[in-house]
Amino acid sequence: MSVSNIKADFTERLFIEAGLCKGMRVLDVGCGTGDVTFLLAALVGNTGAVVGADRDANALAIARQRINPEDQAAPDFIESDLLDISESLGEFDAIVGRRVLMYQADTVATVRALTQRLRPGGLFVFQEHDTTMVPASRGAFPLHTQAQGWIKRMIEHEGADLHIGFNLYRIFTQAGLSVENVRAECLVQTPDSPSSLGYIVRACLPRILAHGVATAGEIEIETLQQRLDEERTHTQNIFIGDMIFGAWARKPK
Ligand SMILES: C[S@@+](CC[C@H](N)C(=O)[O-])C[C@H]1O[C@@H](n2cnc3c(N)ncnc32)[C@H](O)[C@@H]1O
Repeated sequence: MSVSNIKADFTERLFIEAGLCKGMRVLDVGCGTGDVTFLLAALVGNTGAVVGADRDANALAIARQRINPEDQAAPDFIESDLLDISESLGEFDAIVGRRVLMYQADTVATVRALTQRLRPGGLFVFQEHDTTMVPASRGAFPLHTQAQGWIKRMIEHEGADLHIGFNLYRIFTQAGLSVENVRAECLVQTPDSPSSLGYIVRACLPRILAHGVATAGEIEIETLQQRLDEERTHTQNIFIGDMIFGAWARKPK
């Protein structure tokens, strides 16, 4: 099973246990290229409807290319800021998002604005992460620690909340929602399980360099994934590579 599959499993379980089901009308905010949006479309089926919203036109173009023209339950994608979701879309049964609240300057104001688009009694379901405690291990993983550090500092430079997972309960409550469940799951990395940390650093490389977090010479991107793989296979130790949080809350009736 790939790392992304494991994360998708958490997302799917979160949605199902929160109560997302056939026939619902759902808004996926910060949908990016649509991974969560298509998962939702399958959950709500032909009798439901899903709208994905993002401010990144390039990501939305990729998401739209993924639509199967014969699929009756295909989602709609709209270009919009989270703070500016059009009233003309009407009310939704649920508003969801993954890895998006962490990037908002005022998370409580953002959640308040989004709940204007939620019907009374509707569900608000978010998956966010805490990247400050990983990798957590009994053994030493110096290269993994260094690579995670580059990503953490890059995100920090971009003004994101690294502790967002721990803050979900407070944010939802302060925004006037009634929290029903908060959960977290550790993603454990064994020497044999696949890891994409080197590829993530490669994808983030321009941002890491632009923020002066590390130099190209320190990162040595061409050999990074291989050196990370070697660090894991040369030890019998395991570590926690990610801490995933999920939470759901309801808008009072
Ligand atoms: C880390 S990506 C996550 C994408 C998707 N939710 C997923 O899990 O695959 C964050 C996305 O949120 C979008 N985003 C962040 N802040 C936003 C805002 N204020 N309004 C609209 N989109 C936003 C970004 O453009 C980006 O596509």
